[in-house]
Amino acid sequence: MSHETILIASDHAGFELKEKLEAELKTLGYDVEDLGPNTDASIDYADYAHPLAERVSNGENDRGILLCGTGLGMSYAANRHPHVRAAVAWTPEIAALAREHNDANVLVLPARFVGEQEGRDILKAWLDTPFAGGRHARRVAKIELDEHPTTENS
Ligand code: RB5
Repeated sequence: MSHETILIASDHAGFELKEKLEAELKTLGYDVEDLGPNTDASIDYADYAHPLAERVSNGENDRGILLCGTGLGMSYAANRHPHVRAAVAWTPEIAALAREHNDANVLVLPARFVGEQEGRDILKAWLDTPFAGGRHARRVAKIELDEHPTTENS
């Protein structure tokens, strides 16, 4: 049983699957902090992506899960935060590769395009797959602008 606290948040399009995956995480033994929303009323995805991503970025939490209709808006917002690697995954294979090759610390689910069981399978693949390290660690390090020699920030 893990006692890691995993963050989760969505917009209205991801709300229903968020509730299902939150229950699944608890069944798997994770502590979960739900950063909202608490209803499926229409809201703006960035308002929920940024607070979660900030906490992963500053190291307060290791991992988070975001859900919106396509996964795109949530991933755009989350990936603006340093050290956040938010991966949109619509199959378990993509979720596993996002961990193995890209060390994805935020899983983003396109809730309008995956069913409940697919969502559970994607979540499990992301939770259970370790980062491979090695050459992938070099590549992941180069994602950060201040680590990349061609950017103005280096
Ligand atoms: C909401 O209708 C939808 O635009 C949102 O969930 C998401 O898909 C945006 O990227």
